[in-house]
Amino acid sequence: MSKPRLEGKVALITGSASGIGEEAVRLFAENGAFIVAADVQDELGLQVVASIGTDKVCYHHCDVRDEKQVEETVSYTLEKYGRLDVLFSNAGIIGPLGGILDFDISGFDNTMATNVRGVAATIKYAARAMVDRNIRGSIICTASVASSLGGTGPHAYTISKHALVGLVRAACSELGAYGIRVNSISPFGVATPLACTAYHLKPDVVEANTCSIANLKGIVLKAGHIAEAALFLASDESAYISGHNLAVDGGFTVVNHSCST
Ligand SMILES: NC(=O)c1ccc[n+]([C@@H]2O[C@H](COP(=O)([O-])OP(=O)(O)OC[C@H]3O[C@@H](n4cnc5c(N)ncnc54)[C@H](O)[C@@H]3O)[C@@H](O)[C@H]2O)c1
Repeated sequence: MSKPRLEGKVALITGSASGIGEEAVRLFAENGAFIVAADVQDELGLQVVASIGTDKVCYHHCDVRDEKQVEETVSYTLEKYGRLDVLFSNAGIIGPLGGILDFDISGFDNTMATNVRGVAATIKYAARAMVDRNIRGSIICTASVASSLGGTGPHAYTISKHALVGLVRAACSELGAYGIRVNSISPFGVATPLACTAYHLKPDVVEANTCSIANLKGIVLKAGHIAEAALFLASDESAYISGHNLAVDGGFTVVNHSCST
């Protein structure tokens, strides 16, 4: 039997009540981690934890827009498990859908507060906990194909995910001195509540739409595929990977779809 890939590691996962975060909680637990699952959807988050078992996973309310709640959630993780090895800062929203000509500025502020400021707060307190304890940790953020291409998501979302890549690179440049790795994952479309609710579409319709424009054919991208990428970046298998924005997009962002050879 091979050793579980996250054996003995403690992980904090935000946005864990649903979609990609929920899959990551399940996969990290299967791979031996102790987990604090954080979210604002308490009922769903508690259901996820109960379905796995409270011996290795616990739920904690955390709105990442509120710095105090983030600080308190990291403190809770340290009290509960004594250390923090992995932060999967995954919570995010799609934000307002309108174009630039009728740009929703307050919706934009909320998108930045969640997708960028919220992630920065999680990195701040998680990295402090790692530095204080000499832990060579791994920090992983969920970006998007919209972090490198315009026109693949709403404007506020695209701006926030581009900024997130800047945040990852800035944190990587500072935290490398402490042996802490910082990376992001950039998924193509996944039929989670984020994608389905925003466009009022059922999961099978979102998946059909995504498959029709995908570069890689014959496979439907699922939240579990993104969780697998997070597991790789959380584990020691990625020991020298830092500052990377790992596209899980079947080649979508490196192919020009408007011309065929
Ligand atoms: N689904 C996609 O197609 C897709 C593609 C690329 C990137 N992403 C990114 O993946 C991440 C996860 O999204 P998902 O697709 O699993 O959607 P989801 O809606 O299923 O999950 C997002 C979770 O984040 C939580 N959340 C939202 N605001 C929060 C806040 N302020 N504090 C704490 N938690 C909060 C939600 O309650 C929810 O449980 C997001 O960062 C999203 O931008 C998703």
